[in-house]
Amino acid sequence: MNVLGIETSCDETSVAVISNGQLKVNLISSQDFHIKFGGVVPELSSRAHLQTVTPLMKEALHQAMLELKEIEVIAATAGPGLIGALLVGLTFAKGLCYSLDKTFIPVNHIEGHIFSGFLMEDKPQYPYLCLVVSGGHSLLLIVEDDLRIKKLGGTIDDAAGEAFDKAAKMMGLGYPGGPNIQMYAEKGNPDAIKFPIAQLKNKYDYSFSGLKTALLRFIQKEYEGKVPESDLPDLAASFQKTISDTLTTNVIKALNEYKVKSISVVGGVAANRYIQNAFHEIAESRNLKLVIPDQQYCGDNAAMIAYRGMLLHLNKKKYNLGFNAFPSISEGMFSDG
Ligand code: KG4
Ligand code: ZN
Repeated sequence: MNVLGIETSCDETSVAVISNGQLKVNLISSQDFHIKFGGVVPELSSRAHLQTVTPLMKEALHQAMLELKEIEVIAATAGPGLIGALLVGLTFAKGLCYSLDKTFIPVNHIEGHIFSGFLMEDKPQYPYLCLVVSGGHSLLLIVEDDLRIKKLGGTIDDAAGEAFDKAAKMMGLGYPGGPNIQMYAEKGNPDAIKFPIAQLKNKYDYSFSGLKTALLRFIQKEYEGKVPESDLPDLAASFQKTISDTLTTNVIKALNEYKVKSISVVGGVAANRYIQNAFHEIAESRNLKLVIPDQQYCGDNAAMIAYRGMLLHLNKKKYNLGFNAFPSISEGMFSDG
């Protein structure tokens, strides 16, 4: 079975091909031009997806040595994401399915991330504890099987990636913030400054707004708003450690309460080396398998969409072309068994 995956939820246009369960190609075209605006400009993102999606699909098919007629299933991200951006990929997929009589599978972007560990050689084992940490979402879940996902908690304000991006802006670093903070943090002392970790009513929820405010106050008080280059490493390292400690605290609580076979940390923030090391330590101490996707599968990519589409298709899930794009997670589908 040949599956084509299409991802256009934010600022990456991506097309992937999976043949008989094997990933053949995963092409990602990143819209770097947003950097000069300090964040993603939705209208420009949609226009870039429009220009890129067709040539990228042709190139992906060429590299997979397949023709469109040999594709059976077309999976596209349906949400959550920027509505204009989503509509480009979803409508493109629907059009292909309608005109060429292919099976259409709309995929929840978060579910794409949740199962992205299966793109690795060493795959997660059910049931696994999954931490989704991206620019738009922070979720702690138990993945019981292909279709049953139990939510333990999530962020009540900013997502972890969003916190990195906003903190980077306050420190005078560019977008996206995560990689820039990581770069400075590698030269700094993570224990230099103590920032607060939020304690919430639901012990599995996250909140990063208090940390953001604490950082802002610190920068205003110590530096009158402008952090000198020499102090950036310690500030970045201390901030990064606080995010990491916040994430691991809830994961440890969940591991004490739920019996799982593995842990998987996914989404853009999972690319952070300090956070990866923290999770390696936890997994080792509990003798659990840890699966963190390679960098190209942590950020947004169509390989995870094709994979999730394939799983849904193998589980006999059926969708019609009337399926609509949904911008926020509360409006769309999310497998609940
Ligand atoms: O999953 P993703 O590519 O897009 C969404 O679905 O949101 O995540 C993007 C987020 C951004 O907030 C970015 O700053 C963060 O992932 N990120 C990182 C790192 N690389 C990307 N955060 C911390 N450390 C990194 N190395
Ligand atoms: Zn994502």
